Amino acid sequence: MKNDGFALITGASRGLGMAFSRALAQRHCNLVLVARSPEPLHAFANELRRAHPVSVRRAHPVSVVAIQVDLSTAGAGQILAEQLSNGGIPIELLVNNAGFGLRGEFRANSLPRQLEMLRLNNQAIVELTYSLLPGMLERGQKGIINISSTAGFQPIPFASAYSATKAFLTTFSLALEQELRAAGVSVVTLCPAREGCIRSNTEMQGSRSKKNGQAFFRVRSKSSTRHSECSPTEAASLSPALSISSASSRSA
Ligand SMILES: NC(=O)c1ccc[n+]([C@@H]2O[C@H](COP(=O)([O-])OP(=O)(O)OC[C@H]3O[C@@H](n4cnc5c(N)ncnc54)[C@H](OP(=O)(O)O)[C@@H]3O)[C@@H](O)[C@H]2O)c1
Repeated sequence: MKNDGFALITGASRGLGMAFSRALAQRHCNLVLVARSPEPLHAFANELRRAHPVSVRRAHPVSVVAIQVDLSTAGAGQILAEQLSNGGIPIELLVNNAGFGLRGEFRANSLPRQLEMLRLNNQAIVELTYSLLPGMLERGQKGIINISSTAGFQPIPFASAYSATKAFLTTFSLALEQELRAAGVSVVTLCPAREGCIRSNTEMQGSRSKKNGQAFFRVRSKSSTRHSECSPTEAASLSPALSISSASSRSA
């Protein structure tokens, strides 16, 4: 990633989004962190700024921009992309992570909440990807990571709308991976689950366990029968887009 390029992580204030943000900051990537609740978002942004100041080895600190936005509102993705463009913040890596899963009987769950989930898990991702792509295509290195779920692999009664949103996302993401390959955009689909983490190209498969209260992914390479354990942060860094960032930040 170039010194002036940014990675945008949606849902960065907790969970997987936080793990992605930490992993990218360690690779000296500038970050745009997005979530709704201001306190945890700004506290996390300040923590990353303190952890990655100007150092002897690096002439530049990691720039961290925190943006409070509800991506489930119509047009939010487009407005965010315009704000970034007007603010001179070029995005090279987009991590579409924000999402949630409603469980329970379809007719018992509230309709507004189900529609909010559809907008966040699908509409916001399509909108943000569409709006940021033109700018990304002008950059040397560019990547998109979509956080889907194994819930999208099959219909799940009592999580019917959630599993459908993830089926949509996986299909959309895998198709986009092929469509954008020639343009040099690396698209990765991650499908986490309670019991595992599967990357779209199935090169890596893993199962998750708890160690010291933290989730760990057990990863197996296709070419090897050996398993190795890694933290969610390390699991996140399996993606080629992050490898690109890592390699370029080392050479920068
Ligand atoms: N954790 C799992 O076991 C698991 C398994 C399979 C798939 N996934 C997928 O992985 C992704 C992350 O899951 P997670 O468990 O790490 O989530 P999480 O811990 O619940 O964190 C969600 C993040 O998204 C933000 N967010 C929620 N609604 C938002 C909105 N409308 N607009 C902007 N930001 C919003 C939250 O902050 P605010 O609340 O402040 O907005 C928070 O930063 C999701 O897409 C999920 O479906 C997770």
